[in-house]
Parts: sequence; C-alpha cells; structure tokens
Amino acid sequence: MGKMWSGRFSENASSLLDQFNASLNFDKKLYEYDIKGSLAHAKMLNAQGILTDQEYQDIVKGMQQVLKEIESDEFVFDISDEDIHMAIEKRLTQLIGDAGKKLHTARSRNDQVALDFRLYVQAHNEIIRERILNLVETFIDLSKKHTETMLPGMTHLQHAQPINFGYHMMAYASMLKRDYERFESSFERNNVSPIGCAALAGTPHPIDRNMTAKELGFYAPTLNCLDTVSDRDFALEMLFNVATMMMHISRLAEELILWSSSEFGFVTLSDAYSTGSSIMPQKKNPDVPELLRGKTGRTYGNLVALLTVMKGLPLAYNKDMQEDKEGTFDSVETAEISLTILNEVIKTMTVNKERMEQACKVGHLSATDLADYLVEKCHIPFREAHFITGHAVAFAEQKGVDLSELTAEELHAIDKRVSPDVVEYLSIRHSMNARNSEGGTSTRKTEEQIEKLEEWVKEKRVG
Ligand code: ARG
Repeated sequence: MGKMWSGRFSENASSLLDQFNASLNFDKKLYEYDIKGSLAHAKMLNAQGILTDQEYQDIVKGMQQVLKEIESDEFVFDISDEDIHMAIEKRLTQLIGDAGKKLHTARSRNDQVALDFRLYVQAHNEIIRERILNLVETFIDLSKKHTETMLPGMTHLQHAQPINFGYHMMAYASMLKRDYERFESSFERNNVSPIGCAALAGTPHPIDRNMTAKELGFYAPTLNCLDTVSDRDFALEMLFNVATMMMHISRLAEELILWSSSEFGFVTLSDAYSTGSSIMPQKKNPDVPELLRGKTGRTYGNLVALLTVMKGLPLAYNKDMQEDKEGTFDSVETAEISLTILNEVIKTMTVNKERMEQACKVGHLSATDLADYLVEKCHIPFREAHFITGHAVAFAEQKGVDLSELTAEELHAIDKRVSPDVVEYLSIRHSMNARNSEGGTSTRKTEEQIEKLEEWVKEKRVG
C-alpha cells in the first residue's frame, strides 16, 4: 500500500525521506489520544448524518481492535506510515474497509495532531498537579514536626538569622503551591478543542464542534481555526511551568546535597535513595538530588528549543512543528518522576536536629537582636547600636564563643546601658520567636502558615 497522500506522486518516497520525515517513532506515544479523538469525531459525524450508523459502529469496533493490538504489542509500526495518525488510520481501514476511509472527513492531520498533543498535555497537567499536591503534603507533615527545630537561616550561604526547619520547608511548599497554580491556570486556559478546524480554514461539512469538544472533556471549541492549527503555546506553557518548577526543585536539591555533607550533617538521606562509590567503600552519595539539579537543565533546553522552533513561522501548520513533541514528552516525564522521587527522598530522610541547633551557635546569629535590643530598650540610635553590637561580636570572637553565650556582666562591660535581661534576648530561640510578624519564622507564625497551606491542599483535593 502506497502513502495515503501518494495520489499526485509518480515516484516512491526514498527510505531516507521516511527516516527523516517520520514522527512515528516518538508520536506513537499519542496513540490513546489519537483513538479517543477519532472516536469522538466519528460519533459527531454520525450524529450529523455524515456517517451511517453502520459505518460508525464499524469504526468503533475497528478502533477497539487497533487499541488492543497496540497495547498487546501486536501492532506493526511501519515508519513509512509517517506518523501515528496515518498508522492507525491505515490499520483501521485494513480491518473495516471503506468506513475507515471516511473517518478523515472534515478533518486534517493538522487539527488531529493539535488535538492529540493537547489531550496529552492536559492529561499530564493533571498528573503533575496531583504529584505536586502529594509533595506539598509531605512538606506539611515534615514542617509540623519541626517548628521548633532551629537552624541557621542564610544569606550568601553565610549564617544570618536563626529560623526553624519547618519554616524552611514551608518556603519550598509555598513555591510548589505557585507551581501548582501555574499548571492549573494553563489547564483552564487551554482546555478548548482543536478538532474540526481541519487543515486551517474549517470545513464545508456540517460538523458540530461543540459536540466533539464536550465529548472530549473540553469546555468549548477553540475560537479561530487558523490560530488553532498554527500555535503550540499550550505546550510552551507546559514547558515553562515544568522548567520553573524544576528550578525550585533544583534549589532544594542543592540544599539537600549541602545538608547531607559531613560539613553540614543537617540531614541523612536514607540508604534506599543514596548510592555508593565503585572505588571508595565508605561513600554514600546524594545522586538523587544531584540528578534533580542536573535534569533541570534539560527542561530549560526543551523550553528554549520549542520557543526557537516556533519563532517566525508563518501561519498555519509547518512541518517544523513536528519538533514540538520529543522535548515536551521529555520535560513531562522528567517532571513526573522528579516529583515522585523527591517526595520519597523527603519522606525517608532523617533530620539531624542536634546538628542544626549546634550550627546555630556559630556565626553570632543573634547579633541583629542585640542591635534591636539597644534601640528598643536603651533608646540608642540604630547606627550606634550597630557599632556597639560589632564590639560585642569582636569580644565574643576573641573569647572564642558565640554572641549568645556572653554573660550579662560581659555585655554590661561593653555598654553600661545594657541590663541583665539582655541575655534572654540573645538566646537563639528567643531570636527566632521574636520574628513573629506575618509570614515570619516564629513557631507560632510557622504554624499559621502550615494551617493555611493545609486548608489550600484540602480545597484542591476536593475541587
Ligand atoms: N506528524 C505531524 C506532526 O507531528 C502531523 C501533522 C502533519 N501534517 C501535515 N500536514 N504534514 O506535526
């Protein structure tokens, strides 16, 4: 059997062309969406009197057979069929004859591929959102246990102010909430049906695009057919959403790598999610976070690649656009496995409370508190308070202790206006809990953040 489009050709296609031109090797992933789309299209054609009941029934039966053959690996994928759309249509026609040849009425591969690919992107948007919620829940559970576990909060990777570990985890949970919302908003915007747009201009056949849209779970048909077969911004949104989420994940991955080093020792990754060295028997490596950090790169690449493919293309469909799929599949698969494995890593790691709290005694974390004390209690102007605190820090350095370990007498000797209650102000826990402003790190404010996010997860679970 020649190519479906071979009517006007007198020579056969070269096999080199097949190799270069075909998308079948990768777009076969879309088979279930292609079949679903065809069934909805056929149902509509039947309802509109374009296909007889018999023809429609033949198509339904034939497609069931095709689906069975693909899922049991019996289906013969032949690269000369070019893509999944033609491969399925050819097999259908072999199975049921003429009715198969009528399926493509009022349809083109241009709206067909726009439909299949959009169905794929929408379905995986839902899978990714579900996995984000699972991860957010893990952060919530972990945060609840650690609203009093203190660690040094950092800027420039230098000890800055004491925070609690729950608060730190809630920062990541907040990023993932926004990631979720980005996916959700993309889903809503793009949940419209491309099918029935045909090649680029619509069709003279009396089709019903509302019916196919509804049948396929879309809110409505797209507005303009020329746009619909031309654009891939729904895939670009997916790629951007994944890239941004992976950027967030890479920052946590980096912290996990640092925290599991002997220098930090803040967490211990479980053996199940660590790897060994082939030569150094003592080693336990954080390969999973490293790969999460590394894989972020390819998701950026996929985004930039498709943006570049789409740049400057004249309307409507151009074959360049076949390059939309592999990168999108790759980003989607990377996002899905990354979310799942990160969730496991977080759930199974050990938080080394003592190491974190020990680290709070390094770096004079309560220096800002001393300056604040001098301003509030002693009515010293902030610049002067800053200067006096610098003296106190230098004194502690000389003595080889942390600022929080100086005695009331020592502090009084540095500045006579200081009373004994200063010692309490300089304790690390006091410093953390003093940051009790909205969104701050105090145990109470962290608990409020957890509560709010828990509420949000609950809403998303039912919605
Ligand atoms: N395999 C093509 C793709 O993935 C399907 C659409 C082809 N349409 C066309 N008119 N050649 O983009």
